[in-house]
Amino acid sequence: MTELLLECRNLVGGYVPEVDILRGVSVHVPRGEIVSIIGPNGAGKSTMVKAVFGLVPVREGQVLLDGEEVTGEPAHELVRRGIAYVPQRENVFPSMSVRENLEIGGITSRAGMEARMEELFTMFPRLAERRSQAAGTLSGGERQMVAFARALMSRPRMLLLDEPSAGLAPKIVAEVLETIRRIRDEEGVSVLLVEQNARAALAMSDRGYVLDQGTDAHTGTGPQLLADPKVAQIYLGVRP
Ligand SMILES: Nc1ncnc2c1ncn2[C@@H]1O[C@H](COP(=O)(O)OP(=O)(O)O)[C@@H](O)[C@H]1O
Ligand SMILES: [Mg+2]
Repeated sequence: MTELLLECRNLVGGYVPEVDILRGVSVHVPRGEIVSIIGPNGAGKSTMVKAVFGLVPVREGQVLLDGEEVTGEPAHELVRRGIAYVPQRENVFPSMSVRENLEIGGITSRAGMEARMEELFTMFPRLAERRSQAAGTLSGGERQMVAFARALMSRPRMLLLDEPSAGLAPKIVAEVLETIRRIRDEEGVSVLLVEQNARAALAMSDRGYVLDQGTDAHTGTGPQLLADPKVAQIYLGVRP
């Protein structure tokens, strides 16, 4: 066991050959921690998370999970190794029921699927009440819970979340972030969290990275980044 569950070393890559969106990004997630990535639109935050999950070609650098290199492995193999990914958009099947969405999340680990689902329904009682309802009929916050629960079906140790609070009302944003903290505490998973709500995300994170133009411009503990005047001015919308 190494202290770092996820290590991304100097990742260079992008969607098409010779166009590097990631230009040497290093992001580390210590075991059991919540690590946030913040930064302006188009900085490469989503691309970074997709590269970790094998969805964007990595041309240079390495991704290590628990000390083992997994760079460029296909997503299904990464799920088998204990990574789960919740994309920013279209992260539930709207016409399927809550239960069916969770079944799809458990497809790679069918043994014990029913028991796992019940565990997650205990963790998310609102989903238990709505288990037969189509996911598309739920509120934005509830749909995000479905996406989390679906990802947790495979019992991951590393959870990648891309802007889970995007487009939600402020009260619901707080609820979603609190749920992420609860997932970390109760499931013992480590979390890499991309967030637009930078201040709220940093406040509940052990560590944060500011990504800008495909590189990691700043890093520090949540409180350090919140207190850094340069970070505050540029990325948190604070006037000097
Ligand atoms: N599917 C894609 N194909 C080609 N370029 C893309 C694709 N998705 C994003 N990009 C480009 O990659 C850059 C970084 O985008 P992204 O990682 O989505 O930024 P962020 O998540 O920080 O807002 C942008 O210039 C964007 O236009
Ligand atoms: Mg994005």
